[in-house]
Amino acid sequence: MADKANPVVTMRSVTKRFLDVTANNKINFELFPGEICALLGENGAGKTTLMNILFGYYTCDEGEIFIKGKKTELTSPRDAISQGIGMIHQHFTLAPSQTVLENIIISTKSSKGLFLDIKAATEKLLHLQERFGLQVDHRARVWSLSVGEQQKVEILKALYRDVDILIMDEPTAVLAPIEIRELFTTLKSLVKENKSVIFISHKLNEVMEICDRILILRGGEVVAEKIKKETSTRELVNLMVGREMLEQLEKKKISTGEAVLEIKELTVANDKGLEAVKKIDLLVRKKEIVGLAGVSGNGQTELCQTLFGLRKPQAGTIKIEGKPLPPGDPQRAIRAGMARIPEDRIETGLLMDLTVSENMVLENHISSDFSNKGLINFQAIHDYSDELIKSFSIKTAGRDAAAKSLSGGNMQKVILARELSGSPSLIIASQPTRGLDVGAMEYIHQRLLEEKERGIGILVISDDLDEIFALSDRIIVMYEGEIMGDITIDEASREQVGLWMSGVLK
Ligand SMILES: Nc1ncnc2c1ncn2[C@@H]1O[C@H](COP(=O)(O)OP(=O)(O)OP(=O)(O)O)[C@@H](O)[C@H]1O
Ligand SMILES: [Mg+2]
Repeated sequence: MADKANPVVTMRSVTKRFLDVTANNKINFELFPGEICALLGENGAGKTTLMNILFGYYTCDEGEIFIKGKKTELTSPRDAISQGIGMIHQHFTLAPSQTVLENIIISTKSSKGLFLDIKAATEKLLHLQERFGLQVDHRARVWSLSVGEQQKVEILKALYRDVDILIMDEPTAVLAPIEIRELFTTLKSLVKENKSVIFISHKLNEVMEICDRILILRGGEVVAEKIKKETSTRELVNLMVGREMLEQLEKKKISTGEAVLEIKELTVANDKGLEAVKKIDLLVRKKEIVGLAGVSGNGQTELCQTLFGLRKPQAGTIKIEGKPLPPGDPQRAIRAGMARIPEDRIETGLLMDLTVSENMVLENHISSDFSNKGLINFQAIHDYSDELIKSFSIKTAGRDAAAKSLSGGNMQKVILARELSGSPSLIIASQPTRGLDVGAMEYIHQRLLEEKERGIGILVISDDLDEIFALSDRIIVMYEGEIMGDITIDEASREQVGLWMSGVLK
């Protein structure tokens, strides 16, 4: 049980401002040994900023930090690590061409000869793996690991440095369900040894499962603190967004029309030259949402890249509204009417140094709405941007703010706003609500259902079964590059889809 008398972290009246935005306003936060504490809040509420302060990335403008009772100035992550604080970001910081062991021992203090060191280091590592259930081959090169395994390496790297406070910023957003189970087992074994964890997630069922205590932020301030046992998902949603959520989205039955996306015998190789997509057929009709379910890493990424024109297939054809799509040509994909919501939005979806407004018109600034005889109509772009900022509730200092100043979830909203607001005939949405808060997720789901009613064909690729079941008219399951099953929503059961996802046929 957590020792309430001796907090390991005390943040007192911490304030952080960025120009006109107060990201954290007089925040008080305590963390106790042996507990998992959740930080919950809408996109832009200030969670990542607060943790970046605790990890020494940012210094606060006002306030004090005590670590294990001692007032501490944290001016760099190095400081934080030496105080026993580790942080695992969503974007990992490992060297892909090096082995797991090399990544873990890099820049740690070494003693004596290299040979002895490596032996001792390996032993220490194997011991940590055993102790906290973090199985991954220490000789493997990092590039060959799955995302889940890479995360294990990051955790091991922190533990190797004797961290006893672990900050995890949306760790489950990129994990497959089975990897989430493994992570939770590890977290439980950490707190059993009196270590403490700060866990950020938008998935309330996870928070309710794994955390002991929940701190809710809103607009940069702490609005509530709850003991898990004394609260409910419903109450948390209310505290977070200040309103009730819809119980269930209304999904109208719609008769489906002609094919808008037709894939035939498509084969795609991955970066290692191995077949990631194996001769698949796939059809999306007008007024239809097809959910492509599957554990990440089973060919979905390569399929998407091929559809977006970012990767050339080895064989097969793609047709949009009956017309063949030439391979490897992103511009043609856009002109054919495809809206593209990529999975790695931060890397491929946004230009970080451009403004919110510029990012919103990235792909259609030459369209007639925004330019006339080569003259750009700035007023139209401004009005359009302001409208999207409002309707997608994007939290930003304004349309002229740089994309990189937005919180993770708000960056994603910018792409969603841009892609859903053109007039596409086909939407390909990969993990469309990953990283979004519950309110934003509900809004995006509603938008997608509305787009469908307007006659658009939609392919939703998601490893979140709740999302697949909430949206789809038809569910297709992909496993190791092949289609395992294709079933209408009326006939689909979670058990069946789950079995297909793990490669088991009926
Ligand atoms: N480097 C920065 N420059 C300017 N503004 C920033 C910067 N970092 C964060 N902000 C602003 O601070 C506020 C809080 O952002 P933060 O990233 O902490 O939110 P968050 O709670 O982690 O949200 P999300 O759930 O979307 O990740 C946002 O309004 C964001 O735009
Ligand atoms: Mg964040």
